[in-house]
Amino acid sequence: MAGNWKMHGNLQQNAALLSALTTAVAPSCEVGVCVPYPYLSQAGQLLAGSGLALGAQNVSEHAVGAYTGEVSATMLADFGCRYVLVGHSERRTLFGETDAQVAAKCLAAQDAGLVPVLCVGETLAERQAGVTETVVGRQLAAVLDGLVPERLERLMVAYEPVWAIGTGLTASPEEAQAVHAFIRHRLATVDMQAADGVRILYGGSVKPQNAATLFAQPDIDGGLIGGASLVAEDFLAICQAAK
Ligand code: PGA
Repeated sequence: MAGNWKMHGNLQQNAALLSALTTAVAPSCEVGVCVPYPYLSQAGQLLAGSGLALGAQNVSEHAVGAYTGEVSATMLADFGCRYVLVGHSERRTLFGETDAQVAAKCLAAQDAGLVPVLCVGETLAERQAGVTETVVGRQLAAVLDGLVPERLERLMVAYEPVWAIGTGLTASPEEAQAVHAFIRHRLATVDMQAADGVRILYGGSVKPQNAATLFAQPDIDGGLIGGASLVAEDFLAICQAAK
């Protein structure tokens, strides 16, 4: 279960949220929070020894160099990050990240020992046009073509229909499962055995009320939680639903 705080929080709010999570969660599932860069140090300290993992929301595709404003994967590792979101739809649509860039970011993250959470998903227009699998397939191909099986074992995927993010609309469990199964099949073209072990998260308006039915689907292995991860009670209830 991964929380995506997006560009929310401040020192005081973060401390309250993280203390609520660390005192309450007895994680029977793996739980992590992806926080804004400036708070990695704070979150890392507050999460130490809690069993909750630290993650970031973006990473440079470059290892080091003259890239003003960028943050490298080794820097994230330096601050104790285990995960990093890569290719979130907000990065793709608002900041113009391309499939090729997203693929390079996945490799850069893995080279630094991080687990990239590769985000894929179609827009409403694409779903209505019946091209969901084409779009998700293209996003996956950029990362998977030529990928060695050992890298597949260190990858997570998040299926996030763009029309469900922050909108209160959720894919039905059946709609989500169909795409998750499609993703698993595509992963299996790299390595069948490794594909079975890849965690595929669902994201897009997951709430305590709809979490359990989504997570009950065979290929939905967890959730990427935006808005609800900012409310300790809701995020904890969603983690509970994962059991
Ligand atoms: P949401 O965001 O849960 O607020 O819809 C999910 C995400 O963007 O990762």
